[in-house]
Amino acid sequence: MKKLWILILLILGASVTIIAQSEILIPVSTQNSDLIFKAGDDNRLYQAYFGQKLLQTPESDAFPRPDHIAYITSGTDDLFEPAIRITHNDGNPSLELNYVSHETEKQGDNVTITHIRLKDPQYPVVVILHFKAYYLENVIEQQVEIIHQEKQPVMLYNYASFMMHFDASAYWLTQFHGDWAEEMKMQESELTSGIKIIDSKLGTRAHMYQTPVFMLSLNERSDENHGELIAGTLGWSGNFRFLFEIDENNSLRVISGINPYASEYSLEPGRSFITPSFVFTYSNQGKGLASRNLHKWAVKYGVMDGGQPRYTLLNNWETTYFNFNEEKLIALLDDTKKMGLDLFLLDDGWFANKYPRDNDRAGLGDWQENKAKLPNGLGVLTREAENRNVKFGIWIEPEMVNPKSELYEKHPDWILKLPNRPEHYYRNQLVLDLTNPQVQDFVFNVADGLMTHYPDIAFFKWDCNRMMTNAYSPYLKNKQSHLYIDYVNGLYKVLDRFRQKYPHVPMMLCSGGGGRVDYGALRYFTEFWASDNTDPLERVYIQWGYSYFFPALSVCNHITSWGKQSIKFRTDVAMMGKMGFDIQVNELSDKELTFCQDAVKNYKRLSDVIWRGDLYRLISPYAEDRAVLMYVNGGKDKALLFSYTLNPRFGESFNVVRLQGLDPVKTYAVQEINQFPGIRNILSGKSLYTGDYLMNVGLTVSSSLPLTSTVIEITAE
Ligand code: GLA
Repeated sequence: MKKLWILILLILGASVTIIAQSEILIPVSTQNSDLIFKAGDDNRLYQAYFGQKLLQTPESDAFPRPDHIAYITSGTDDLFEPAIRITHNDGNPSLELNYVSHETEKQGDNVTITHIRLKDPQYPVVVILHFKAYYLENVIEQQVEIIHQEKQPVMLYNYASFMMHFDASAYWLTQFHGDWAEEMKMQESELTSGIKIIDSKLGTRAHMYQTPVFMLSLNERSDENHGELIAGTLGWSGNFRFLFEIDENNSLRVISGINPYASEYSLEPGRSFITPSFVFTYSNQGKGLASRNLHKWAVKYGVMDGGQPRYTLLNNWETTYFNFNEEKLIALLDDTKKMGLDLFLLDDGWFANKYPRDNDRAGLGDWQENKAKLPNGLGVLTREAENRNVKFGIWIEPEMVNPKSELYEKHPDWILKLPNRPEHYYRNQLVLDLTNPQVQDFVFNVADGLMTHYPDIAFFKWDCNRMMTNAYSPYLKNKQSHLYIDYVNGLYKVLDRFRQKYPHVPMMLCSGGGGRVDYGALRYFTEFWASDNTDPLERVYIQWGYSYFFPALSVCNHITSWGKQSIKFRTDVAMMGKMGFDIQVNELSDKELTFCQDAVKNYKRLSDVIWRGDLYRLISPYAEDRAVLMYVNGGKDKALLFSYTLNPRFGESFNVVRLQGLDPVKTYAVQEINQFPGIRNILSGKSLYTGDYLMNVGLTVSSSLPLTSTVIEITAE
């Protein structure tokens, strides 16, 4: 039988490298990690090893016979949580998966793709585990594909993207949670026996209460530079679930993917169901390295155009809200220029006529310029922007509708809402039914229509200000349990179409703040709005949280008037990511204006180090009344350190900080920048130190005064 398989596959010309024989090892390797599967002589696929890279792959029988089935099925003999659960078309609620074959292909020098094909011995159901290993970045993406040839649809109940087993003495989970305006609060706890679930059921977005990211430390807690851990995140802009289960032997299984909650999927014969990617990295040198791995991967592969520059911008949301007209906006274009920024971003409120968008209760869905505010349309603004040599960007929220809108009146059947129940609003709006191809066209046309009329639009902020509640899709009819999945795939179809036509227009991903921050969406977006909370004291924690998984160039930080701190503190905090402004420029004093202009120049000069450098988190705001971090470029000849003093209560003076990531034998010039006239500096003038000195003796970098900050530029001589 096996020989027949080999023959068939060879005739088909498939690039199959190994066919099931006795025991086979399948490595998925990066520079520093090995994930090794073993196809056993019982035809099952086992996870044989995951951890630090082995010097050489051992013989298959060198691994003790593992009992960790790689992708555990349901309905037969396993008594814990499965990775996959299905019911066959004859009602049989069990699945068995045997190893059939695997193949590997190289994509350039750095990427290796491995497909492991599994099949039910009795039913024509095939499951393929797809791995994409990024060698230099030490990141692996995993997806799972399910296909069948049964006569009728097969019902899928659980369909994880990722499953992995660990055998450690203890497991420490770092998770991130929050709410609107308090995103990314970090928590660490030891897992105990039984199941721990982190999930969301928000429909249109992944996070708000729980973020789809985690770090899992093995044996003991990790810190920034020590400890063995895996860091992972799901690339999916909808419901997710991470499940951690410790069994009676203290083995842990981790299962990640789309949340199976209310999401039974009826899969037609011949169609394939492909899960989103679970992106993960292994580190045996603490959380800092795990973050740097993910950042490097994201800049190159995970975030759209990660290698390209980003625009610095002036946004008008917090300065005008809905209250503006042409004249005010033209004045803001002047301010953009005056500040030395690249782009002006016009936020919410520019559209709708029958029900003007003068507040958040009306107009959403009617994407024509509001004639009272913009009698001459957007064209005047793009022209005036061009006259000033600045770019123009615009806010849209095309997936949503206010009941007070023409769209709602014309297309009630395009809206997600339950029959026989009252409509349920969040921010006075409802969600459009993106499972419906007509609605997909509408949403695409919002963005495409703007680009077609105004080709000079250089930037979008794509918002999504609510989750799903009381949701029912008129389009899906009796397949309501497909809604959560088909909605997100509908969104991706629209974004795919937009990107085919406009491959490089930068777009900010926003979802009532950071509700849609995930690598599924970031394939289409250049950056994301981290939180509506722009008070810099809060932002230190929020940005700190995002820094574990997302690179600085993707995290949009705007300087606003939400907090009442000095302009220097606000600016220095924003500068650790992708900086923008949303303040009344005309209310700045001369000194403040000069400070901001200089800070923008510094930022532009140093942004490459921030965006693409290696991040070292030196002092956590969870540990002290300050946060200190630094970025170091690839050549180790330029670094930038940020220190933010929070609210020390007893006027304490802080210890010196030992720097990291520098070259010990290089000599560095160390100089404070972003200085505000009249404020005492932490460092006087420019001093020379060796990397060795900076990393072993350290520097005084933090003031003890509340809500102050220091930015230090470090340059190899
Ligand atoms: C959301 C966004 C804000 C702003 C408003 C506009 O709340 O997070 O930044 O764009 O919508 O209504």
